[in-house]
Amino acid sequence: MGLKTSRLNPDPLCELLFENSTQAILITDSNGKIIQANPNCLNLFEYSLDEIIGMEVEKLIPKELKQKHTAHREDFIKNLGFRKLHSGLTLTGIKKSKERLSLEIGLSYVKYENELLVVCFISDVSERKKWITQIRYQQNLLKKYLEVTGTIFLILDVQENIVLINKVGSEILGVSEKEAVGKNWFAHFLPLDEMESMRYFFKKMLNGEVEDTNTHENNIINSEGDKRLIEWNNTVIRNKSGEIDAILSNGLDVTEKRLLEDAKKEALIIGQEMERRRLAQELHDGVGQAISAIGLNLNALEPELENYNLRFKAIYTDIKIKLDNTFDEIRAISKNLSPKILEDYGLAKALEFLGETIDKSTKVELNLSLHGDLKNLDNKISLSIYRIVQELISNAIRHAKPKNINLYVTRSSHNILVIVEDDGIGFDPEKLTTGLGISNLKSRLELLKGQFNIDSSTQGGTSISINIPL
Ligand SMILES: Nc1ncnc2c1ncn2[C@@H]1O[C@H](COP(=O)(O)OP(=O)(O)O)[C@@H](O)[C@H]1O
Ligand SMILES: [Mg+2]
Repeated sequence: MGLKTSRLNPDPLCELLFENSTQAILITDSNGKIIQANPNCLNLFEYSLDEIIGMEVEKLIPKELKQKHTAHREDFIKNLGFRKLHSGLTLTGIKKSKERLSLEIGLSYVKYENELLVVCFISDVSERKKWITQIRYQQNLLKKYLEVTGTIFLILDVQENIVLINKVGSEILGVSEKEAVGKNWFAHFLPLDEMESMRYFFKKMLNGEVEDTNTHENNIINSEGDKRLIEWNNTVIRNKSGEIDAILSNGLDVTEKRLLEDAKKEALIIGQEMERRRLAQELHDGVGQAISAIGLNLNALEPELENYNLRFKAIYTDIKIKLDNTFDEIRAISKNLSPKILEDYGLAKALEFLGETIDKSTKVELNLSLHGDLKNLDNKISLSIYRIVQELISNAIRHAKPKNINLYVTRSSHNILVIVEDDGIGFDPEKLTTGLGISNLKSRLELLKGQFNIDSSTQGGTSISINIPL
């Protein structure tokens, strides 16, 4: 075997290189007849040297490509030159077993004893091609997925610039994918009042100070200047060295969903208020009028009293006092249910009245401390604050058994701060099982974008603070 077996007669170095090259090498004459092949070439095509020598080179090519190849070969001979390997051109080859191969071919020629020989350097790139096809397939799949998903896919690099955004994302932003890529996310697509806090959060993620995968919500601003509320799931992307070099976020536009939820909450609260009004009216007009009528009948009895003994007179007086008290109580309940005083005189007066009722009906000392203009408030806000205070005070009285309750309400230019403090038994906020009271309070606060904080412990005392932006 070897070069010597053919009519070529090379020097020893040349033969050594030819025999041991990891590349497959094939030599043909100018008519495409194979005159030599190295061991790797024989391995590749699965022919023996005897079989391959004298064979038409086109036998190593699938039938349908033979004609094209012959033309190429003839063209090469006509315009002698070189074709480099890895020039990106691939050719399909065929083994003796008919298995197909993806090949990359480099071509060269040499004049040998007045004859032109073509030297082919052949690399088997079948495996590489398989991988590339696989990767392309995966990429395509990912692209398709990014296209059909109803959520935003966004990748930001460490400079806060958009690296990738899918179709849904660019549609929500109102810019094309091309326009969006490379733009600073925070500067271009976040509302001013959320820009810095989100930047801060993003930096914390990059620094690994936040969990690798997390969820948050923020508004974005689209090209029309409209705000959209997005619920994000974020995860960090690490490079080969394990450093975080991008953040991938998957976002769902929850604007309409949240509006619907808010509308439901509002409808529930409006319904409650309507029901309270109806009850107040019924107490006042129904039960209240009935008690008035009983009072009038009692009054009518008064001239007859002198005909009766002292015990009878005492019972009569007792009934009258109890009836008066019941009447007062019903009026107070009806007033609390539908605080007309709130509409007529504003929040401060309504809270003062609430304080008086508590002073009268309980042994708890209620200290009011009201600051700022509580009169000219939006009706919705003042009614919500009134209801919240009512709930917190009644919670304190019912659950805490306090001696004192302090109520602070302070209005400043941007917000209203409400604090209800008691010196009762306290509770563990971690173990709080919220009833209707606290969950109603939460609904009201969510609608007003307010926040609340509970400071309480089983050592005693509770302080609940509420902050409502104006
Ligand atoms: N000021 C308070 N002191 C002690 N416990 C309280 C206080 N406020 C609320 N709680 C606790 O929180 C629970 C939930 O309150 P809430 O949601 O208003 O429901 P409810 O008053 O109907 O029980 C109460 O049952 C009580 O255990
Ligand atoms: Mg309650």
